[in-house]
Amino acid sequence: MRLALFVSGTGSNARTIIDRFQAHPEDGVEVVLLVSNKATAGALAMATERDVPTLVLARKDFYETEELLQDLASFRVDFIALAGFLWLVPAYLVQAFPQRILNIHPALLPAYGGRGMYGANVHRAVKEHGETESGITIHYVNEKYDEGNTVFQAAVRLDPEDTPEQIAERVLRLEHANYWRVLRRLAD
Ligand code: GAR
Repeated sequence: MRLALFVSGTGSNARTIIDRFQAHPEDGVEVVLLVSNKATAGALAMATERDVPTLVLARKDFYETEELLQDLASFRVDFIALAGFLWLVPAYLVQAFPQRILNIHPALLPAYGGRGMYGANVHRAVKEHGETESGITIHYVNEKYDEGNTVFQAAVRLDPEDTPEQIAERVLRLEHANYWRVLRRLAD
């Protein structure tokens, strides 16, 4: 599997995935490109340090042209994993990679998904509703936020005392432990 990771921020999931597959070539997954919609994303330096080529997306190019498809083809990308990528994926990209784009979401979808539900917003909402568990959802991407078929879910019990920051930390640990495993399974 020749994987492209799409990110918008810190890229801790992207880092975990790159480190895993660089250390374990026998897994059969190579991260060949990291795409960011933010020129300032910490993930860009992280990828460069690891010799993974990077690409910064401009909103206009992403939504008004299909140039990205040529870039992905030039790296022979055959699978995409969104790892904290906050822009809606346009139809041309979904259609070019049918059942070949995954996303990770920091909650148990369909709860706490949809537009505006990302990062800290999700954990604050989970806390406000007094949920006793949260978790992660790894799902295929379609043209709507957080609505493609679910591939994997895992839950964590929450303590009533947990702050949104503590929930975030526990959920992120679950993401790091599972995203690469799901990608390896799909590569198989
Ligand atoms: C992760 O928790 C991911 O699930 C979330 O953004 C964070 C990115 O962290 N994604 C969404 O909320 C998508 N709706 P990272 O940049 O450290 O990997």
